[in-house]
Amino acid sequence: MILTTTRRQALTALGLVTVFIICLQLLAHVAPSSSRRTWANLDEIEVDEDPTRIYRTSKVFSESFEHALDDIPPHQDPLPSSPNSNRINSSKNSKPWIFFVTPTYKRKDQLVDMTRLSQTLSHDKRIYWIVVEDREMPSMRIRWILERSGLPFAHITTLTPEGVHARGVEQRNSALQIIERRKLNGIVYFGDDDNAYDIRMFRELRKTTGVAVFGVGFAVGHYERCVVDEETGKVARFATNWVGGRMYAIDMAGFATHSSLIIEKQPRFRNDWGVGQLETRFIGQLVGNLTDLQPLMENCTRIYVWHVKTQGGRQDEVKNDKEWKRLSSLV
Ligand SMILES: *[C@@H]1O[C@H](CO)[C@@H](O)[C@H](O)[C@H]1NC(C)=O
Repeated sequence: MILTTTRRQALTALGLVTVFIICLQLLAHVAPSSSRRTWANLDEIEVDEDPTRIYRTSKVFSESFEHALDDIPPHQDPLPSSPNSNRINSSKNSKPWIFFVTPTYKRKDQLVDMTRLSQTLSHDKRIYWIVVEDREMPSMRIRWILERSGLPFAHITTLTPEGVHARGVEQRNSALQIIERRKLNGIVYFGDDDNAYDIRMFRELRKTTGVAVFGVGFAVGHYERCVVDEETGKVARFATNWVGGRMYAIDMAGFATHSSLIIEKQPRFRNDWGVGQLETRFIGQLVGNLTDLQPLMENCTRIYVWHVKTQGGRQDEVKNDKEWKRLSSLV
């Protein structure tokens, strides 16, 4: 009896010691290395305001930074910014590339938006992500997200000039310059970081031959879309709450352009265009008429892209039940 108890206690003690040792080993192997990484990362985030310090302190990334402001190479060349460039190069896949242009700037929800976007885009392996930061030097936080996405990418920067309120104008122009200069062949799409994208959209985008248009949903429960003439199959008009004298009354997220048209026409956005005129005036440089537009997403009847943030509306409030019901049938 006494012997049995002692043995049981001894076994329990042995078991506890084993568990303790395993825990110690786990801590020794896992905790220090992961916390080291975390600390290093935190340090680099803190020096974010001084990019030259990141450059000096981050050995791993200093090489990438040397290339960060370079032009990106044509897509058939090695893509030094992508960890998976070999896979892309050796791919026999002939699906057209999508050049997904995302201007971004420092704000409280930048990382939320960029994380979500990167994980949407990484569902599709033929996306070249062109991210243009509104700052002087590329930031580490964005570089990490780009690296983790596994996508080939260009990480460049363009500062918005002093006194200019329109965001994204100069940044999109920089991306256009790259596409033209490198004669990139594929579909150009201006995909802001604060939208939500249905991955079904990518397959549709690849049908773009000139300028393609499609509907955009808004989180407050309304939508804008092109309307197709059933007889001709051409775009006849746009259904929107606000026309504002626009010929092409479509949102930035509601159109795509084949890069050959960009290379031919060299269109640009301009800071001095009025509020809400960016899209229509940009498209005006590419086509001459509504009927030149190619309707996508099942003749503009499906919503595959959403504006998550909208001004002038509480997001938990659906203002128009009829439109909400209709919108719900479009997804
Ligand atoms: C779009 O509309 C045209 C004309 O009504 C029709 O011929 C075509 O099949 C439609 N395409 C799709 C994808 O629904």
